[in-house]
Amino acid sequence: MVTITESKMEKLREDFPILSRRIHDKKLVYLDNSATTQKPKQVIDAITDYYTKYNSNVHRGLHKLSEEATVKFEEAHNKVAKFINSDSQELIFTKGTTESLNLLAYSLLTDLKKGDEILLTQMEHHSNLVPWQQLAKRFELNLKFIEIDKDGILNLENNPINNKTKIVSVAHTSNFLGTINPVKEIGKIAHENNALFVVDGAQSVPHMPVDVKDLDCDFLAFSAHKMLGPTGIGALYGKKELLEKMHPFNYGGDMILEVKFDDTKFNNLPWKFEAGTPNIAGAIGFGAAVDYLNKIGMENIKNHGLELTKHAMRRLNEVKNLEIYGPLRADRRGPLVSFNLINIHPHDTTSLLDDYGIAVRGGHHCAMPTMKLMNLVGSTRASFYFYNTKEEIDYLASTLDKVKGVFK
Ligand SMILES: Cc1ncc(COP(=O)(O)O)c(C=O)c1O
Repeated sequence: MVTITESKMEKLREDFPILSRRIHDKKLVYLDNSATTQKPKQVIDAITDYYTKYNSNVHRGLHKLSEEATVKFEEAHNKVAKFINSDSQELIFTKGTTESLNLLAYSLLTDLKKGDEILLTQMEHHSNLVPWQQLAKRFELNLKFIEIDKDGILNLENNPINNKTKIVSVAHTSNFLGTINPVKEIGKIAHENNALFVVDGAQSVPHMPVDVKDLDCDFLAFSAHKMLGPTGIGALYGKKELLEKMHPFNYGGDMILEVKFDDTKFNNLPWKFEAGTPNIAGAIGFGAAVDYLNKIGMENIKNHGLELTKHAMRRLNEVKNLEIYGPLRADRRGPLVSFNLINIHPHDTTSLLDDYGIAVRGGHHCAMPTMKLMNLVGSTRASFYFYNTKEEIDYLASTLDKVKGVFK
């Protein structure tokens, strides 16, 4: 197994200026990567370069700056598309996973008829639940759920798919339980039943090689800020033949080929879905993020994440009165561990860890129905990226013992 060696790690961490910060006079230990990752100098510099050297609008200027900005913007399209092995036309820039999933829900559901069904799982982030739920209410469609067992594993044998199911939309990796779902298998089931298959890749694309052709998903949504890129930009992949048939989500400039007073001919893919001035700096930063990830290697990132997760599960299991949620086997998880100290509110745990310089997330993690199903008010979540070390996890485990001491 190739992993990130200690000497490489030291150098690599120097690329992330924020990692040398001190918090409450302690070294920052940043373990909130599922919420957002830190940004390397290369990404920050790419954004600064755009604003300082060739800031201009794209696609419409006939001057040099606009030409340069357009080239860089389209380069970013190509880089992000290639990163998930899609064609450039099939990769739409959006504001992030949330907007990608809203775009899909608005574009697809208007064509469904009363009584049609949408199949989700019981572990979805609100972003992959609320858009479908709200539109289903409006168009009188029904939502169904694949159930999870006590370890956060999907019960695929008893899934409620049937001939009314038109869309199956599933998180590749759960942001609360950490479960990596067997999306290839779920996609096969969806397609055998003539349903479209949507993957929420917000927590998978940053952490493992994801190949849309191999997965055979119809759509994949993900966010740049969870994979070293800036906030406010993400992507939606869609199979070309499906995107061509779909209605645009936003109407306006840039998404048109010809406009008359009474009708409009839409632009080619992907611009048909990118109305208005896009997030140019964001896209360029996203491209730089993908360059950085490619340099490290997604297999290395996946292997390092697995090693950290194994170590975290071992070390956290040694902390008395601590319960961990999600799959027992580290290799069935993305690089995150949700847990609670028994009888201590996750907000208390999280804010006490902050006193020691440890940044983790405490709360419902945008998965309120899953929390309720498991009779929890929330959890504390430690989530890792390739710049994290086993020593940081050891520090988390030993600090949790101190946190418990506060409540004795
Ligand atoms: C699984 C999952 N889906 C969707 C989202 C929403 O992503 P964003 O807030 O970047 O749109 C998140 C964010 O945490 C997530 O973890």
